[in-house]
Amino acid sequence: MTTATFPATPGFQPADGASDLAGSFALAGRPLSAVTGAEIQAPLIQGGHVRYANLDYGASAPALTVVSAYLNEILPFYASVHRGAGYASQISTSVYENARSIVRDFVGGRADDSVIFTRNTTDSLNLLAGCLPVSDGRHTGEVLYLDIEHHANLLPWQTVPHRSVVAAPTLAGTVERLREELAHGGVSLLAVTGASNVTGEILPIRALAALAHEYGARIVVDAAQLAPHRRIDIAADDVDYLAFSGHKLYAPFGAGVLVGRPDWLDAGTPHLAGGGAVRDARLDNVSWATGPARHEGGSPNVLGAAALARATQVIAALDEEQWHAHENAIRSFLVEGLARIEGVAVHQIFTDTEPGAGTIGVVNFSVEGYDAGLVAAYLSAEHGIGLRDGRFCAHPLLRRLGLPAGSLRASFGLGSRLEDAQRLLAGLQELRQNGLGWDYVVDAGRWVPANDARKYPHWAPNTPGTAGAAPCTDGTA
Ligand SMILES: Cc1ncc(COP(=O)(O)O)c(C=O)c1O
Repeated sequence: MTTATFPATPGFQPADGASDLAGSFALAGRPLSAVTGAEIQAPLIQGGHVRYANLDYGASAPALTVVSAYLNEILPFYASVHRGAGYASQISTSVYENARSIVRDFVGGRADDSVIFTRNTTDSLNLLAGCLPVSDGRHTGEVLYLDIEHHANLLPWQTVPHRSVVAAPTLAGTVERLREELAHGGVSLLAVTGASNVTGEILPIRALAALAHEYGARIVVDAAQLAPHRRIDIAADDVDYLAFSGHKLYAPFGAGVLVGRPDWLDAGTPHLAGGGAVRDARLDNVSWATGPARHEGGSPNVLGAAALARATQVIAALDEEQWHAHENAIRSFLVEGLARIEGVAVHQIFTDTEPGAGTIGVVNFSVEGYDAGLVAAYLSAEHGIGLRDGRFCAHPLLRRLGLPAGSLRASFGLGSRLEDAQRLLAGLQELRQNGLGWDYVVDAGRWVPANDARKYPHWAPNTPGTAGAAPCTDGTA
């Protein structure tokens, strides 16, 4: 249903010269790793096509071509795991079980850490919430978390005893606030993100792990955003639990993982009661398995786990210096370019975040005078650029940053190139100078181009409105 309109700006002219912003940035001209779909063409609303500039890696990253090729290779052998004596079942079981040790190595896990495959990070954290220690039917402690978290690392803890802390304006101050709260006692688990999905700022997880342990608590790190951008070593950092998702780590098919200390996990409530999760079942009682099987009831996502494991191998083999230089070059180019565009503001949580080393490939910004959703629709329709708008499933943080209606997020990684950032800057400059080149309307809660005659590929259903339907659109924020 159409509820609002935003007219094209009269006298619209494309801006030129925007690419001069590339300046002296020599790095990141090419993707660091090949990804599937890097050259797909996006239809423009004014006609013609352009290479799709994917600046939405933080939501789901494209598959590495190595991973796509691996999946094609194993697909003919894809079969049920664990219970089949057949050749394909045996191979699939071996791939699935081997994926655990590959993932354990990737995150520097301890030899006895459980590696449990889940649907995604959200699932992993919900699983852990069901395993917090209980005595006489009551939880033995509370979960402590910051107000900057993604809902996946916030809402599961609201189902158990919990406390929250508002992050300070600095990282150092935030660590102090957590210390004060931990010192009050009674915290069993500190739940913290490795990097903000909203601003890309990295949290000091080694220091936070030490802090949690000093006060008798454990720590879980939501590494959904960190794992695709930084090497992680949970044994060295003394992190108790780590959760992340394959789909953000260049692995399609949607597997997530929870890695961590087995004692709570082996005593906790089975996450998915059912086949495979038991040692023995009777009509009215059951003896639950321990280890990953306890929580992986039902047929597992074999291809998802295989893809995730293969992606971790590719990432582990990257030259770390080159990897970070690639992503830092794009990020600093983008941040500097955004700062030069009048009316564009870049958002950050902490004032003491170290540029480069302290951030991942995520940049958050807004454009004065325009709804974030309208800017996103414009960039997509008129420039073939995909990025994220809204509140990023982090409503408390967006509200506190003074962005209750949302903002924009550009995110990138191994398959990105400087040109993607250049195109974004050029599109924003054009918007500031000339305004919109098309009429836009609000349809099903999202800004979309009016009279959009573009078609999806023949195999995709083209139902007007559904592509833009978005959750979390309650404007009350
Ligand atoms: C920091 C963070 N945590 C958790 C999640 C949830 O991940 P998933 O959707 O894979 O469960 C996301 C997804 O955007 C995220 O960015």
